[in-house]
Order: sequence, then structure tokens, then C-alpha cells
Amino acid sequence: CKSDYGYQKQGTAVMGSLQFGYNTGVINAPQNVSIYCSYPQSDTRLKQKSPIPPGTLTALWSLSVAIFSVGGMIGSFSISLFVNRFGRKNSMLMANVLVFIAATFMGLSQLAGSFEMLIIGRFIIGVYSGLSTGFVPMYIEEISPTSIRGALGTLHQLGVVVGILMAQIFGIEAIMGNATLWPLLLGFTILPAILQCALLPLCPESPRAMCYIHVVKVQYNQSECNCLAVLKKLRGTDNVGEDLQEMRNENQQMMREKKVTIIELFRSTIYRQPIFVAIMLQLSQQLSGINAVFYYSTRIFERAGVAQPVYATIGTGVVNTAFTVVSLFVVERVGRKPLHLTGLMGMAISAVLLTVAMSLLDKFSWMSYISIAAIFSFVAFFEIGPGPIPWFIVAELFSQGPRPAAIAVAGFCNWSANFLVGMCFQYVEQLCGPYVFIIFTVLLLGFFTFTYFKVPETKGRTFDEIAAGFRMSADGLLFVPLNTIKICITC
Ligand code: GLC
Repeated sequence: CKSDYGYQKQGTAVMGSLQFGYNTGVINAPQNVSIYCSYPQSDTRLKQKSPIPPGTLTALWSLSVAIFSVGGMIGSFSISLFVNRFGRKNSMLMANVLVFIAATFMGLSQLAGSFEMLIIGRFIIGVYSGLSTGFVPMYIEEISPTSIRGALGTLHQLGVVVGILMAQIFGIEAIMGNATLWPLLLGFTILPAILQCALLPLCPESPRAMCYIHVVKVQYNQSECNCLAVLKKLRGTDNVGEDLQEMRNENQQMMREKKVTIIELFRSTIYRQPIFVAIMLQLSQQLSGINAVFYYSTRIFERAGVAQPVYATIGTGVVNTAFTVVSLFVVERVGRKPLHLTGLMGMAISAVLLTVAMSLLDKFSWMSYISIAAIFSFVAFFEIGPGPIPWFIVAELFSQGPRPAAIAVAGFCNWSANFLVGMCFQYVEQLCGPYVFIIFTVLLLGFFTFTYFKVPETKGRTFDEIAAGFRMSADGLLFVPLNTIKICITC
């Protein structure tokens, strides 16, 4: 990359994704049973009274786990309040205040003898993570050249999986997952925030966001000068005419559109189809059952008769990371749609294999190995498509005007489904026993069919071309601006 910024800007942004992954993994790390045992006891008020009934303990713990997703729902829904007002970069910078507060609450909860502080801290870091799942893919997509936009978009998911893996490793009892060091394990989240605060000021603002903010608030000419300078630096060349033209088209289209609110996304025939696609893709990610594995893998491995469930869990983190890297390298060659389809079908087959292995475990003890293989392949196929693609494709499906509202809606759906799986899986598992993954198989096949028929390929197409495609299918050629008709006919 000849750009003046190299990949530093994407690397800096994905610190936010890393936080999301770290805080997803950290509280569920199996070794954190030690937190579970020691944290309510750390409350001096409770200590003075009689021991807490196990039911209350479980409820408090479940709340600490689930409140993260509630924060995520609120955070993801609020992104449009920030990005158009302060820009992408400043929004990311400002959000770090939440990390500092959350890390302080979580890190000092034991010292202060208050479990409420841990719950509040988890909620705040959830809000931050929700914001990050909108800010990071949006920023990366907007600053990346069309030809490698998908590969760079996958970096968000890479940040998430590295965060999960770090949490799994740091959560080993011998490292920080023990009764003494767990506050440090949770407070550790402050370090990436400090790093991001130091590096973000050196990164450029998204030129698209600059154009948008200036077009709306100031005047067009001034905005073009600024955009041009940033674009030249970003691409490392003076030859940015094509990019600039694309942004002009996007802005012209945006000025023709009414201001797009969340309600408008559902009312307008132009946006209804892409927002439906965006929501379904997010649901396909969460209702695939991936977090049933990440939240409860140790229990699943235990039930599957695996001797060392802790290390098998770390194995899932390693497979998870490795296959995200594979996706990063193939997404521009193969395209989003084939990868998403392959991922969904592979997960469905793995889920069937897991069900067979778990139901035959009593008869053949070697089925535990098949279970490990099935879980690993379930995770691997997830990262081929359903992991990274839904996060960045939403930014591709919408032009500048509706993009923040669309990302907010899609993120909210993702976090709500995440919450649902996290809360219900244990209960459903008690009901269905070894057949629980059949539910995910059915859902996966449904999402496969939907993707096959309804999801457009976005590889190599500019934001404007993609939006024009949806406009054409909603309203016919009448709505397509002149400068995009040529492109639409060829694509
Ligand atoms: C995606 C999901 C997240 C999940 C992770 C696993 O980022 O959004 O919920 O935990 O993948 O790698």
C-alpha cells in the first residue's frame, strides 16, 4: 500500500472490534468460574449476612453476562446520533470515554466490595461495543478502495476474533482467570483504549463523511478541497478522479433523497429491500448458533465427553482466528455471496454431525473426537462467511444518506439476536438434550435459501452502483440517475 497512512488507520480502528471480542470472551471463559464464586462474596454487605442462595448467585451472574448485550443493543442503535454530527473518527475517539469508565468500574468492583459496579461496568462496555460494531466497519469501508473493500472490511471481524482468543488465553487460571487476578482480567480492556486514543488523532477522517458533513452543513466547494487532500493521502497518489467522482455521485443522489430516518428506511420502497437483506444477514450470523458455542463451549465439550474442555475451547478460538484470515484473503476473489452460502451450508452440515456424535456418545466413546471435529468445523465455516460478511456488507448496501440509520437497525437486530441466543440456549438445551443443534440446522438452511435468492453480490461494485441496483428493482430505470444507467446495464 503506497498510501501515506499504510494500514495504520484500519489497525487503529479495529482496536474497537478487539474490545468487543475481548469482552465477549472474557466473562464466559470457563476458568472464570473463579470470578463467579468470588465476586458476590466480595460484597461486604452480603458477607455480613447469611450466604447467598445459589439461585440468586446464578441470577446475578447471568445478569452480568447478559447486560453486555443489552448495552450493545443501545450502543448500536445510537450510532447515527454521532457519526453525522462528529464524523467517524471523532466518534470513535469520543467513545473511548466509555471504556475508561467501564474498566474502572469492573477493575475496582472487588476492591470496592460491590457487585453492582461489575454489572454497571459490563453494561457500559456493552454500549461501547455496540457503538464499535457500527463505527468500525463504516469507517473502514468508507476509506478503502472498492477493489479491496471486502478484505479490509473483514479486518473488523479479525479484531473481534483476536479479542476473543486473547480473552480465552488470559482467562486461563494460571494467567489471570483466578480468584485474585480476575479484576485485572476485566480491567485489561483499558489498554487497547489508551492505544487507540494515542493513534486515532494521526488517522484521517473518512473522506466520504467529510463530504457528507460539509455538503449538509457548509458548502460543496470547500468540502471538495478537503476531500481531495485526504483522498490523495489515503490512496498515496494524485490520481483520485474516479474515487472523487463516485463520492460526487453518491452525494448528488443523497441530496435528491429526503433525510433518511430509521422509520423512512422501512417506509420507502427504495430502502425496504436492502434493509430487509441487511437484517436477515445479521440474523443469519447470530441465529446460526455461533454464540451458543462461544458462550457455552466448555459445557458442550464436557457433555460430549472431551477430557480437557478448557483446551478444546481455546482450540475453537484458534480455529476461529485462522479461518477469519482465510476469509480475508479469499473474499475479494470469490465474492461475498458464495462465501456466505458456503459458510451457512458448512455450518448446517457440521451441526448435523455434532448432533449425531452427541446422541451416539453413550454407545461409542470415540464420538467425543467427532464432536470436537464438528465444533471446529462449525466455527471454521462461520468465519468463512457468516462471521465477517454481515458486519461489513450493510455499509455496502446503502448510500451515504441512509447508511448510518441502516447500520443502526442492522446492529440492533444483531445484538438482540445475540441476547436471545445467550439467554435461551441453556434452557432450550435442557429441553432438547443432544438434539439442540437441530434447531440451528433448520435456521441455517432457511438463511441459505434466503441468501441464495435475495442477497446481491457487492464485490467490485461501488456504493453508488449497489444502491442504484436496488433503486432499479424497486422503481425501474426512472429513478436511476443518468450517470449510473451505464453502470447498471453492465452489472
Ligand atoms: C461475530 C459475532 C459475535 C461472535 C463472533 C465470534 O463477530 O457478531 O457475536 O461472538 O463473531 O467470532
